[in-house]
Amino acid sequence: MKNYIKHSEWNIIEEGFDPSLNKISESIFSIGNGRMGQRANFEEHYGGETLQGNYVAGVYYPDKTRVGWWKNGYPEYFAKVLNAVNWISINIKVNGEILDLHTAKVLDFKRVLDMQGGTLTRTFSVELQNGNVLDVEAVRFCSIVDDEAGAIKYTLTPRNFDGEIEVESILDGDVSNQDSNYDEQFWNVVDSAVGEFAWLTMETKKTTFWVTSGMHTHISQDGHALNQKPTYGSKEKCVSQRFIVKTKKNQATSIYKFAVNLSSENYRREELAEAALGTLKRIVAKGFDKMLLEQAEAWKKKWEHGDVIIEGDIAAQQAIRFNIFQMHQTYTGEDARLNIGPKGFTGEKYGGSTYWDTEAYCLPFYLATADQKVAENLLIYRYKHLEKAIENAAKLGFTNGAALYPMVTINGEECHNEWEITFEEIHRNGAIAFAIFNYIRYTGENSYLVQYGLEVLIGIARFWAQRVNWSIEKKKFVMLGVTGPNEYENNINNNWYTSTIATWCLKYTIEAMEEAEEQDPERFAQILTKTKFKAEEEVANWQAIIDQMYYPEDKNLGIFLQQDGYLDKEQILVKDLPDSDRPLNQKWSWDRILRSCFIKQADVLQGIYFFEEDYDIETIRRNYDFYEARTVHESSLSPCVHAIIAAKLGDLDRAYEFYLRTSRLDLDDYNNDTEDGLHITSMAGTWLSVVEGFGGMRIKHNQLHLYPVLPKNWKSYTFKIGFRGTTITVNVDHEKVSLASNSAHNLTLNIFGENVELSGKKTIEVFLKSFTH
Ligand code: BGC
Repeated sequence: MKNYIKHSEWNIIEEGFDPSLNKISESIFSIGNGRMGQRANFEEHYGGETLQGNYVAGVYYPDKTRVGWWKNGYPEYFAKVLNAVNWISINIKVNGEILDLHTAKVLDFKRVLDMQGGTLTRTFSVELQNGNVLDVEAVRFCSIVDDEAGAIKYTLTPRNFDGEIEVESILDGDVSNQDSNYDEQFWNVVDSAVGEFAWLTMETKKTTFWVTSGMHTHISQDGHALNQKPTYGSKEKCVSQRFIVKTKKNQATSIYKFAVNLSSENYRREELAEAALGTLKRIVAKGFDKMLLEQAEAWKKKWEHGDVIIEGDIAAQQAIRFNIFQMHQTYTGEDARLNIGPKGFTGEKYGGSTYWDTEAYCLPFYLATADQKVAENLLIYRYKHLEKAIENAAKLGFTNGAALYPMVTINGEECHNEWEITFEEIHRNGAIAFAIFNYIRYTGENSYLVQYGLEVLIGIARFWAQRVNWSIEKKKFVMLGVTGPNEYENNINNNWYTSTIATWCLKYTIEAMEEAEEQDPERFAQILTKTKFKAEEEVANWQAIIDQMYYPEDKNLGIFLQQDGYLDKEQILVKDLPDSDRPLNQKWSWDRILRSCFIKQADVLQGIYFFEEDYDIETIRRNYDFYEARTVHESSLSPCVHAIIAAKLGDLDRAYEFYLRTSRLDLDDYNNDTEDGLHITSMAGTWLSVVEGFGGMRIKHNQLHLYPVLPKNWKSYTFKIGFRGTTITVNVDHEKVSLASNSAHNLTLNIFGENVELSGKKTIEVFLKSFTH
């Protein structure tokens, strides 16, 4: 864990330059706009440790798989999002010496991510080896108004010299991924042009995506534009604009760089260069200041709608805003071909691919904070991949239209190739079905079932029906050889979570079929024909599994068992682990981890979180007490689930502790892995731990329910949720909960178990309850 980020309500601040923290900061200070994003790499050359990262949404490369022993069923490749053209590069020479923070003496350094305005600013002073001292301020952003564009203002001020500054502004396509399996480069150059408006078109190998990047650079001194034409440079995969300017002591020289990245996902190849030039000229005409202003206005709107305000706890306030900010930077939901990678645009790990994280954690965030279309697009993404999921299951030997969605994917094909995950971590299928249920529960939009949802559910149900087998010994259906969400146990039998979500899927699919038949018999008949569904036989089989499924539990302890053999393990508690052993995944051998009782992430508790209404409060408490004591939370997805359950149980101190852990996971580098990139998908979980945890939000029987509690070191908190056309503002302080709606319509919601009527423009106040169930 680190503690170097300064606490501030709206800004993320780093003071002083410590090269050993640079890669962590490159992740934390990342910027993006849903179409493109980048790590906080320096504009000028940097000879120290860095992970270069500029990413363009939807553009990937199928990197040929590398494994120890090949197993049938493994995918041939791992699709990964690519480090694309470096558009921020501005190399500086001062009186002939290259500016490089690795070799210069850094006198002063500060990085600020302004979450209100959506900008990254870096200010520093350096003394070069030639004795020249200068101040630099670099401001940049990825525009959320012109979402194919980014802009930089880079200002240099000499402090003790007059002389010459050489500026080389570059589009650099000579880039690679550090995680490339065979040290290959993934891009070929197609074409380029130099000039005032320069551009470079690169093509990905194999997938043949084209990306055209364009740039324009100009310089001003003391606020006046210099009328200096640059010299143009071009070499393979690289174009540049070079300026040499004379400068005097204390004179500010500002370099304005405008850049665009357009991809063949959105334009015909032959139109790309022209379109890039058009966009580039448009933003240059707009100018840096206007773009900056528009950026601030657009972010203001986002915050008006989606801010969570916490009074009395700056660390908590900064953290929730950071999580919300990064979610917005990653995914805007306008394009159903895109999804949310666990690292977003902040690193290479997880390949920018889609995981169950989207359905289990991100969907509820977007349901409550964005237009309904955004959540629908996330579901449609999977609908479009149904055929591939059926092919994927067939590859593993399943038949009759059974669908196994991939653990990791960009285009619907499985990319992951560790057998214990690819073949066994099949619970992901359950999360995809649960998301359909969750969407309909939240929006009331039943028609989604007949339009898209039912086909997906049938494929998933068929998979589960074939994945169980009858145990003669147990006289029950069992599910063997699986990996639950807790990846610290593999190839286990009867993982409670997986078996529970599997039978839930079967039940829900049966209900969904009845619902769909009633809603639209014609479309329902089409679906039966399309899926060649044998109604009586298949439903009877599903029902038999539902009725006779085996779930491991321990009656004495009154808990569900993680898996059949869990209690055979030596039962040690996390509190008894020495600090020096943690994180286990960096300190222990894999063998030792697998044999231990330690749980990576919520597993039984994940199931209790999803199906909370099926369990009484004492059952929840017993399972929570047992599993929390054994969970090391080495997956970022874990603490938020524990926070929500702890809040439900009235254990506010623990809930608060988990909240801080999930929300400051990256800011404080809890798991020692922020340098790989931010944990974007778990950031949605942070939001859930406030709204579902402290706010107690649930949707039951078409109604919004709240049961707010206040952590003791908060004065108050406020959040907004959109529910069926109404935005509701919830403010909680020590005495009361205030509820306001933005709509003229009446809305009945349930607070502390009682119905209240919320009508337009009036605020309702309800006294806070002490915790009772
Ligand atoms: C977790 C998975 C998760 C993946 C991507 C892994 O560490 O165990 O549950 O899907 O990270 O976030």
